[in-house]
Parts: sequence; C-alpha cells; structure tokens
Amino acid sequence: MPTITFTNEKKEIQVPAGANLRKEALRAGVPLYPGIHSVANCHGLASCGSCRVLITKGMENTSRKGLLESARLGVSLAYIGNEGTMRLACQTNVNGDITVTTRPSLNLFGENFFS
Ligand code: FES
Repeated sequence: MPTITFTNEKKEIQVPAGANLRKEALRAGVPLYPGIHSVANCHGLASCGSCRVLITKGMENTSRKGLLESARLGVSLAYIGNEGTMRLACQTNVNGDITVTTRPSLNLFGENFFS
C-alpha cells in the first residue's frame, strides 16, 4: 500500500493503490484547503484550483496530469515556478509513496516569478 506523507501536518497515511489524493487527505483530517475554501470549493471538479498541493517526492508515483488539470493550473499564479511539483489533489491518484506539501504559499517575489 502506498504511503502519503504530509509534511505540514507531520502525518503519514497508507492508502490503496490508485486512491484519490483529495479524498484520502480529507478522510485523514488533513486540512487541504486554505481559509474560506474549506467550505467554498468545487468538491473535486478541477475548477476552483484551491486543492493545489506540491508533490515534493514521488511525482512519478502519481497519475498523469489531464487536460482539465493542466488547464486549471495554467491560469494560476501559484503554478509559476512550480510546474514540476504542483498538482490538484482532486485530480491526482496515488500509485506509490509520495510526500505532499498542502496549501503551498504564493511567492510573488520568488526568483522564478518575474524572470
Ligand atoms: S477541489 Fe476544486 S480544483 Fe480540486
């Protein structure tokens, strides 16, 4: 069974192969959404973008990005500079061990943003 490690929450959970990251995080009580988005989100339809996470280890153990996810992330400022690690939890299936940072901050002054 794959293990998901949530770094902010210092929590590890084991999930069945192919499990949906959003569902498993919520089931485990991991606060996936920032602020008001905990109640005002699209519930997994890939339209709000508020379930974004960083997969800091094990990206190869996740499902591939689909068109809907790529389109949604492509219009997000937070995606700039995080193209290799950012995913929408609701669109990510877990096939092996991964490490996840939930609620990544928006760094408008990072080295990648204005370059
Ligand atoms: S829950 Fe809205 S994009 Fe994932």
